[in-house]
Amino acid sequence: MSRAKLDSIRAAGPAILPSLLQCDFGDLRTEIEKLTVAGTRVLHLDVMDGHFVPNLTYGMPIVEGLRRHTDMPLDVHLMISDPIAYAQPMVDAGADLLTFHVEAVDDCVEVAGKIRDMGVGVGVAINPDTDFAKLDCCLDSVDMVLVMSVNAGFGGQQFNPVALDRLRSLKERKPDLLLEIDGGIKAETIGDARAAGCDLFVVGSAIFGQHDYETAINELTQAMHGSPPAAGDQS
Ligand code: DX5
Ligand code: ZN
Repeated sequence: MSRAKLDSIRAAGPAILPSLLQCDFGDLRTEIEKLTVAGTRVLHLDVMDGHFVPNLTYGMPIVEGLRRHTDMPLDVHLMISDPIAYAQPMVDAGADLLTFHVEAVDDCVEVAGKIRDMGVGVGVAINPDTDFAKLDCCLDSVDMVLVMSVNAGFGGQQFNPVALDRLRSLKERKPDLLLEIDGGIKAETIGDARAAGCDLFVVGSAIFGQHDYETAINELTQAMHGSPPAAGDQS
């Protein structure tokens, strides 16, 4: 639990971050082992409260349980209405980077400052339909921007290319800001996101829908670096 882990997240980029939304929660230890063997260096945890988004996932006990199984940095995506209420408990549970949604808060500079004071990295996320200008005031207060390429709430949705323009714009304005994309990332979309300047690629279905995580991650890595998916590849 420290901003030192933020450096390892930065150093991992460009990197694929498996999203623990569609994994086997009945056997998390095995899932983490398989992802580690497959070369994962950072995990992305999707926390949903059934209020900010309709879906409900998990909270601190799962984060704390994962923390006991791995030293990997934990990138926690808070899709919750009151991020500050749960920020310190998440940090105590082992989160290394906490991302809140700009749509969920009144003052994103204040929220970012409070999270940073807890000694972890801080990110701000924005949904595709939200006015992009809402981010302007907090770009100097965060370590990372999470550009959503689907509406937060569910895995398996279709990629929205508005995210690519947003990544390009952020890269141009703030070249040192860490950029992450989340939603609909697969072999057909990851190359464009990389070309737009993205560092961290959150992937759910295109890993957990596959039998062999290592093969899935290798194919995504190749596609990220510009090799087109093989003919007939349905991933
Ligand atoms: C969406 C979640 C994503 C999602 C990605 O609200 O934040 O992390 O699990 O899943 P895929 O890759 O299936 O779009
Ligand atoms: Zn996410």
